[in-house]
Amino acid sequence: MSDIETLQTELMAAIDSADTLEAIEAVRVSALGKQGSVSALLKTMGGMSPEERQTQGPIINGLRESITSALATKKAELETAELNRRLSTERIDMTLPAPDIPRGTIHPVSQVMDELAEIFADMGFAVAEGPEIEDDWHNFTALNIPETHPARAMHDTFYFPDDMARDGQKMVLRTHTSPVQIRTMTSQEPPIRIIAPGRVYRSDSDATHTPMFHQIEGLVIDKGIHLGHLKWTLETFLKAYFEREDVVLRLRPSYFPFTEPSVEVDVGYSVINGKRVIGGSEGWMEVLGSGMVHRKVIEACGLDPDVWQGFAFGTGVDRLAMLKYGMDDLRAFFDGDNRWLQHYGFNALDVPTLSGGVGA
Ligand code: DAH
Repeated sequence: MSDIETLQTELMAAIDSADTLEAIEAVRVSALGKQGSVSALLKTMGGMSPEERQTQGPIINGLRESITSALATKKAELETAELNRRLSTERIDMTLPAPDIPRGTIHPVSQVMDELAEIFADMGFAVAEGPEIEDDWHNFTALNIPETHPARAMHDTFYFPDDMARDGQKMVLRTHTSPVQIRTMTSQEPPIRIIAPGRVYRSDSDATHTPMFHQIEGLVIDKGIHLGHLKWTLETFLKAYFEREDVVLRLRPSYFPFTEPSVEVDVGYSVINGKRVIGGSEGWMEVLGSGMVHRKVIEACGLDPDVWQGFAFGTGVDRLAMLKYGMDDLRAFFDGDNRWLQHYGFNALDVPTLSGGVGA
C-alpha cells in the first residue's frame, strides 16, 4: 500500500470512530488544518516535476476530497444525533397544569377611593390633592383653629422638629384632609366642586385607630349654596355608595371650627340576623362630619364670604370600607397579610363604574 493509501485508511478509521463533534473537529484539524497531514501532502505538489504532478496530483486531490466529504457526512450525522438526544431529554410536558401565578388584589381602601371618585365625578366633582407634610397654617390656622384652640390638642398631631419649620411655619403630618379645602380655594377660582381623598396621621392606636388612616374631604363653593344642597349631595352619595335606595340620613347639630353651622351625619341601619345592615332607621351610625364653610375660612382664602358660600364634609375612607364590606379590625388594613388581602381584596379588572354597580 502506498503512503497515501495508508493515510487514507487511517483517516477514514479516525473519522469512523469519532463519536463527538469535538472528536470530528480534531480529526479535521489533524488532516486539513495548517499543520495537517493532507495539507502537508498538498504542499509537496509544488516541488514536483510536471510528470510527477500529473500522476500524484489527482491522487492527492482525491484524498483531500474524500476526507473532506467523509468529515462532512460524519459531522452531519453527529449533529443529527445530538439534536435527537436533546429533543428526547429536554422535553416539556404541555399537559402539566400551569403553575400557580401569584395574583395580587386591589386593596379595599383603593377600591373604595375609586368608588367614591366615580360617584362624585358623576355629580361634577373633580379630585384634588394636597401634601401629607403640611404647614400649621393650612392644617389649622386657615381652618379657624388658632394656636390656643382646644381642637389642636384633640388632633394628636405629629409635629416636625422646630428646625424643620418652613417660612416660619411649623410643619406637621396633616391630621385631616381639610387643608386641601384651603389649598383649593387659594389656587382656584370658584365655583369649586372637589373631593380630596388621601392619607392622614394622628398619634393614636387601637382596634379602631391607626396612626395613619384615610379620609375623604368634599368641598363646594358657589353662590347661594345652602344646607339643602349639602343634604341632597350626601344622600345621593350614600345611596350610590351603599347601593340602596332606602338609605336614611339624620343630621345632628355639631361643632367643627371650620363650619358654621356644623352637622354630624348619621346613617340609619336595620338589624338583620343579628347584623347591622345599612338602610332603614332601627338604629343610627355616625358616618360624616360636615357643615357650611365658615366665613372666616372663606376670608382666610382671600374670597368674599358675602359673595361665595359653600359646604364641606369629611369622613374616614377606612370606616366607609368597613361598613360596606364587613371588616371589623382597622389594623388588618395595614398589616399586609396576604390571606386578608386575598379575602377582602378586589380583582384588578373589577373597576367600579356607576353603570356596572360601584361595589360590583
Ligand atoms: N376634618 C374633620 C376631622 O378630621 C372632619 C370634617 C368635619 C371635615 C366637618 C369637614 C367638615 O370638611 O365640614 O375630624
